Amino acid sequence: MTSTIEAGTGTRLDYSAGFGNEHHSEAVPGALPEGRNSPQRAPLGLYAEQHSATAFTEPRGGNRRSWVYRIRPSAAHPAFRPYSDGAVRSAPILDGVADPNRLRWSAPPLPGTPTDFVDGLATVGANGNVLQRAGIGIHWYLATKSMEDRYFVDADGELLLVPQLGGLLLHTEYGRLRVDPGEVAVIGRGVRFRVALLESQARGYVCENYGQAFTLPELGPIGANGLANPRDFLYPVAAFEDREETVQVVQKFGGRLWAADYDHSPLDVVAWHGNHAAYKYDTARFNVMGTVSYDHPDPSIYTVLTSPTDTPGQANADFVIFAPRWLVGEDTFRPPWYHRNVMSEFMGLVKGVYDAKAEGFVPGGASLHNMWSAHGPDAETFEKASTQELVPQKIDDTLAFMFETRWPVVTTELARSASYLQPDYDAVWRGVRRNFTG
Ligand SMILES: [Fe+2]
Repeated sequence: MTSTIEAGTGTRLDYSAGFGNEHHSEAVPGALPEGRNSPQRAPLGLYAEQHSATAFTEPRGGNRRSWVYRIRPSAAHPAFRPYSDGAVRSAPILDGVADPNRLRWSAPPLPGTPTDFVDGLATVGANGNVLQRAGIGIHWYLATKSMEDRYFVDADGELLLVPQLGGLLLHTEYGRLRVDPGEVAVIGRGVRFRVALLESQARGYVCENYGQAFTLPELGPIGANGLANPRDFLYPVAAFEDREETVQVVQKFGGRLWAADYDHSPLDVVAWHGNHAAYKYDTARFNVMGTVSYDHPDPSIYTVLTSPTDTPGQANADFVIFAPRWLVGEDTFRPPWYHRNVMSEFMGLVKGVYDAKAEGFVPGGASLHNMWSAHGPDAETFEKASTQELVPQKIDDTLAFMFETRWPVVTTELARSASYLQPDYDAVWRGVRRNFTG
């Protein structure tokens, strides 16, 4: 168990460490039954309920389920009715475009009116099919107020949140997670939560993973340690809301938003055990690996989490980070090389400068290089990197990331018509000079 103090309020937040562990936690002593999951009468008058994120029969290594002990069973709720989808879209995006062009956006502006996390979701694009649990949705969140009487739950996928501006306090069924820029959080499929802002504004990125749950990548010859280490993934401890008043629960289901008015908070889990919940990870803990001789490895060496598919090695989504690191390669072009790729790459920048783009790729902004679209360093970066003296160099104070996915990302009308879509991204390669001397 580790703990931190939530700045500002002094509230103590405890966490339970270990990726995919069988965690257990009780907010009230004696709330968690011993020795069985569903006793005739659960302790303290609680209801026992299983929350399964995989089929009962999936292999043990990938099976995800938790048992929760709550004030009311989740079944106690009224009908959901359609709710405004706002700017939220899901695959297949019927009016979307699979664009061969390289696209880049500046940081989207924060809304001018009070907007919470749910209403501030804006979809950039998606691939696959939300009803077949294949593919991903890519969203920005742009929020200026906390969710207080509202809760959100995504039945379509787990949510990987990458904060870029402003910290978040995530109140989930499984407890609370504080997530600041530089950290990421994953909210498991079907986990209800609300987002409180720790500052006046919050902006970040969301990978909505319709596919298999994110897991840690295989390490192969790297060995038993390295990249993201399992013990650095922090899960919440049980913390419940005992609220008997009208609240709204917004659910994303089948690509649409639905809402229902509950007469109590859905975050009423007093104790739980299992391996399906929500968790967070501090990217500063990432054990970055790279060359100590020449060439830089494929960026898959920077994979934090992967959502596998039935095709070995071909991810539904990889979450990859470009974190602070030393560059020491000899006789090596050190920035990311020019390439074309069958996979599609959505990139964002949390802070600093990305080493393949001298300018234009800004914190809060993003780029999309769909399958086979040629990309690499801009002209300025190429000139510098191909002539500089190759002394050991620290790339510091930066954090870029990539959602890499097996299928092209179909962009939304909103993303294609946004005022912050940069009009001439191609220009960054226009200045690449002919150097051929043969
Ligand atoms: Fe790339």
